[in-house]
Amino acid sequence: MRRLLEMRILTGIQPSGKLHLGNYFGAMRPMISLQDQGEEFFFIADYHALTTVRDPAALRESVRDVALDFLACGLDPSRTVFYRQSDVPEVQELAWLLSVITPMGLIERCHSYKDKLAHGKPATHGLFTYPVLMAADILMMQAEKVPVGKDQKQHLEVTRDIAIKFNNAYGEIFTVPEPLISETVAVIPGTDGQKMSKSYGNTIGLFDDLKRIRKQIMGIKTDCTSVEDPKDPDTSSIYALYRLFATPEEAGAMADRYRAGGMGWGDAKKALFEIYERTFAPFREKRAELEKRPDEVEDILRQGAARAKAHAAATLHRARAAVGLE
Ligand code: ADP
Ligand code: TRP
Repeated sequence: MRRLLEMRILTGIQPSGKLHLGNYFGAMRPMISLQDQGEEFFFIADYHALTTVRDPAALRESVRDVALDFLACGLDPSRTVFYRQSDVPEVQELAWLLSVITPMGLIERCHSYKDKLAHGKPATHGLFTYPVLMAADILMMQAEKVPVGKDQKQHLEVTRDIAIKFNNAYGEIFTVPEPLISETVAVIPGTDGQKMSKSYGNTIGLFDDLKRIRKQIMGIKTDCTSVEDPKDPDTSSIYALYRLFATPEEAGAMADRYRAGGMGWGDAKKALFEIYERTFAPFREKRAELEKRPDEVEDILRQGAARAKAHAAATLHRARAAVGLE
């Protein structure tokens, strides 16, 4: 069996709003730590975002923000091929070659389309065929491992089915990818205790101004146990968040303070804010620096796209030849 170290890893994120701590601990941090473990491709899925974002200025701003956020948090563009999806439009042609062999039933079964309709998104053709474009993203780069959240598992199954179907029809063109779903990354709670999500309005920002972050943290819902009462760290979302930032020693010491009593919720929230501030200080500094040099960020994305395009061209050529377009 090959080690992860030699694997080609690919993942993408939609630029559709400001990132929050749930995104950081659930997706960004694991993805950034995989940089040392394989050949990594990471892209900003702006074609996908068009299925839900209708404001061009907001889309541009989100793309820029995601790029800054990831670079500030440690994405290293010399190791990771970091690109904007729409800079590699070859993916659209591949999506077509895949869509003509994709059975309707495969896409009709996808939950995410139905969920999005249930949340009031307009039923468009693009939203419906979203999984085929996602399959093209992955197959284009011949990715072997795709780190995603549990919500994307079905899209990976669709991608595998499409790859197998194409290979059976036309010969071995695509690597059949596998999802890399971290069971250890818990669902990060928001300020109301349920899953942190931009659709629930319960987020704590990643790079909002500090006053706002402080306010979000101080607004985390708590029960009415008094200062003197011992508290159970395992049922507290303040502790669940604290632990993600802390070293094991710090987390252990904080759990002891909860259990001992004498610490109010206000103090627990203050400790969470302080550890956020301490951890993010270098990232905030880096982000502020990068923000002053938008051309440099643009260059990084362009160079990433050039590397991605070389892989895209090779796959597309093989796929076009296989179906009889060349
Ligand atoms: P949101 O729920 O805010 O719309 P997205 O669905 O855009 O977030 O998520 C982008 C990435 O961040 C996905 O990989 C997802 O698994 C991860 N993520 C988002 N929220 C959380 C959370 N509360 N806990 C763990 N991971 C999360
Ligand atoms: N659908 C993913 C999400 O909403 C984003 C995405 C698009 C993606 N293309 C991808 C993720 C390819 C992994 C691989 O989170």
